[in-house]
Amino acid sequence: MDRLQQAISKARKEREASGGVTTSPAQSPRGVTAAQAAARQAVPPAGDVTARWAALNPLQVTSKTVRSNRLMAYTPGEAAIPFDMLRTKILQQARKNKWRRIAIVSSDSGAGKSTLAANLGFSFGRMRDKRTIILDFDLRRFGLGPILGVKPVAGMAEVLRGETSFADHALCHDGNVAYGLNRNRVQNPAELLQSPRTAEILNQIEQDYEPDLMFFDTPPLMVSDDSHGVLQSADCALLVAAAEVTPMDRIDVAERQLSELTNVMGIVLNRCRYNAGAHSYEGEYY
Ligand SMILES: Nc1ncnc2c1ncn2[C@@H]1O[C@H](COP(=O)(O)OP(=O)(O)OP(=O)(O)O)[C@@H](O)[C@H]1O
Ligand SMILES: [Mg+2]
Repeated sequence: MDRLQQAISKARKEREASGGVTTSPAQSPRGVTAAQAAARQAVPPAGDVTARWAALNPLQVTSKTVRSNRLMAYTPGEAAIPFDMLRTKILQQARKNKWRRIAIVSSDSGAGKSTLAANLGFSFGRMRDKRTIILDFDLRRFGLGPILGVKPVAGMAEVLRGETSFADHALCHDGNVAYGLNRNRVQNPAELLQSPRTAEILNQIEQDYEPDLMFFDTPPLMVSDDSHGVLQSADCALLVAAAEVTPMDRIDVAERQLSELTNVMGIVLNRCRYNAGAHSYEGEYY
């Protein structure tokens, strides 16, 4: 009998001896409920990245949220193509330059950063061999949660302060995209985002979950110094501008400011209104 058969036979005998019920040596005097036992089993062993991803809470997105909040990349198809094309360009650049952490920035509010971050998550989610983490670092307005139709129990500020773990906080889409969202307005975001503790927590998340890419949704560059802290931790930045809204000189200044802080991966011209052949594009990448 080989070792596997011996192990199966031993387990069978033990189960029969206990009347068919497997008992846990850690059982409390009052017993352990099935849910508690399942939760204990779900705690992944140290070093097991796959189990850590599998243990994350699922992200639930309703079809109403998808329709109302421009989550065009949620399902594959024509509407998702601009995001899939951007995904490929991002991957090429990231691979070439060995960049993993990408900040999504804009000069001013409303360029479409959070919507883009949410959609990139869904688009990258279809790359089954890739793991992606998307973190909302706009701690003043927490835009990404409402776009996904989610109000988490705690926010990324609590994760960065070490008050809650990323494992408990993150919401996972389709097993390979984890979103870290916000709940309430934070009083001192710039200090928190620039603190050494934030850098340590980010390193820990990266170590525990081994993402291929991490995207940081950020507050507008020219409105506060909040995003400067995020950019310290990023490898590069993707500058988002709203076509026909963000003036060229604002894009210029933002690009110059950005290049002093990190590598500029490219500019996404969002909200373009032109029709390129079969597909109606709403974004362009330079
Ligand atoms: N490609 C697009 N086409 C048309 N409207 C869009 C597009 N992307 C985003 N929007 C809309 O623009 C508005 C602002 O989007 P979003 O919140 O994503 O921007 P933001 O840059 O994150 O803003 P903030 O700086 O305030 O966080 C939303 O109403 C969103 O639905
Ligand atoms: Mg936003």
